[in-house]
Amino acid sequence: MTTAAPATRTRPPGPRNRPFIGNLPEFRRDPPKFLMETARRYGDIAWFKLGPQEAFVLSHPEDIQKVLITHQHNFTKSRMLQRAKVLLGEGLLTSEAPLHTRQRRLVQPAFHRQRLAGYGQTMAEYGTRARERWHDGETLDIDQEMMRLTLAVVAKTLFNADVEAEAGEIGEALTAVLDLFRMVTLPFSELLEKLPVPSTRRFQRAKARLDQTIYRIISERRASGEDRGDLLSMLLMAQDEAGTGGMTDEQIRDEALTLFLAGHETTAVALTWTWYLLSQNPEAAAKFYDEVDRVLAGRQPSVEDMPSLRYTEMVFAESMRLYPPAWSVGRMAKEPYEVRGFTAPAKSILLMSEYVVHRDPRWFPDPDRFDPERWTPEAKASRPKFSYFPFGGGARVCVGEQFAWMEGILLLAAVGQRWRFELVPGHPVGYRALITLRTRHGMKMVAHAR
Ligand code: HEM
Repeated sequence: MTTAAPATRTRPPGPRNRPFIGNLPEFRRDPPKFLMETARRYGDIAWFKLGPQEAFVLSHPEDIQKVLITHQHNFTKSRMLQRAKVLLGEGLLTSEAPLHTRQRRLVQPAFHRQRLAGYGQTMAEYGTRARERWHDGETLDIDQEMMRLTLAVVAKTLFNADVEAEAGEIGEALTAVLDLFRMVTLPFSELLEKLPVPSTRRFQRAKARLDQTIYRIISERRASGEDRGDLLSMLLMAQDEAGTGGMTDEQIRDEALTLFLAGHETTAVALTWTWYLLSQNPEAAAKFYDEVDRVLAGRQPSVEDMPSLRYTEMVFAESMRLYPPAWSVGRMAKEPYEVRGFTAPAKSILLMSEYVVHRDPRWFPDPDRFDPERWTPEAKASRPKFSYFPFGGGARVCVGEQFAWMEGILLLAAVGQRWRFELVPGHPVGYRALITLRTRHGMKMVAHAR
């Protein structure tokens, strides 16, 4: 609901704000922890300032549903993602209606059921292929292995490109871009970006390398004029309903880079945490391996196996509950917005954190415990919608959600058929909340052949 003018200047409770900076340093040090402490201390609505920016933390599923669905037109994406335009241009993740509505219509068919089945085949093949490169007893950086694997999958399924050979180079460019990306989400970054400081130059160089790769793929495809039935072909062929034509190279680059980035890091992060959680929970691990062996009986997994890989799906769901790759969703109010008896003024940010809500004991008793049994159909039905929202919701819900479930389940099954991973003793485990909830120290694990 919107009102003509703020009814009151009263704000919800929240941590004390310091002059000018508010709670910015505390927030930036460890955003999920800061939001968790704020929500646990002040309740379902809390308020603080990030520099000049007012932020409201909403932690009740009903309020989240209202913002993401019921009143979604009252909001735009929050500043953090708007700033992402520096890298992603006007792709699906960053654009706003009406451009977003048009682009979403053009991109969505690439994720339809029949197409997904084809992608599933590639996922299983790549999972099987990846597991051949490890040796019994070898210590692996599982985070990097998963990144390499999902990067190869997204490049193949969406662009029919085999980047395995160049994955190291592209992977490096992506990591550099994402690390530096943090800088562009700082206040005053608009200014910083224009200054020739070293970090800005590094960011520009990393971006130029990525662009080079993507424009090369686009031009090869335009030149060949071939329809390969993948996403890139669809983007190149897509015509607006209004008949105003297709996309420019630049628009295609923006969508391609968006899918390329959004489509692999999130899944890699989810898989990394899943292997870690399995290594720490032998009982759940035993059930998982038992299912994989029983259902596949030594075969390579396929899309048809998906309905039988129920426990694998529960493991993946529970992993994304504890370590949601997208740890928070933000929206900016276009007009004053009333919520829980308070008014969030126009231009304030509403923060809804998956990390916080997924660990709320009201919906998930003993919330820090890894327990895939929380994902039986009955248990699921007993909880409110939006007590779990790893893929967001509403018009901006993750376009790759089905793709990601399929990829998670098939890669876990394909790899789990052959390997068990044990955390290297003493290896520190913690997260680092960049755009996604990465591991802070990587994830060193010993591969044991099964
Ligand atoms: C475990 C894996 C993934 C997670 C947790 C995840 C999470 C999310 C979330 C939470 C959003 C909504 C952000 C918001 O509303 O502000 C989103 C949007 C998006 N995701 Fe994903 N995602 C995953 C995998 C993928 C994959 C595999 C692709 C593509 C192949 C993808 C492409 C996108 C795109 C393009 C958007 C923007 C959609 C729009 O605004 O229209 N994601 N994702």
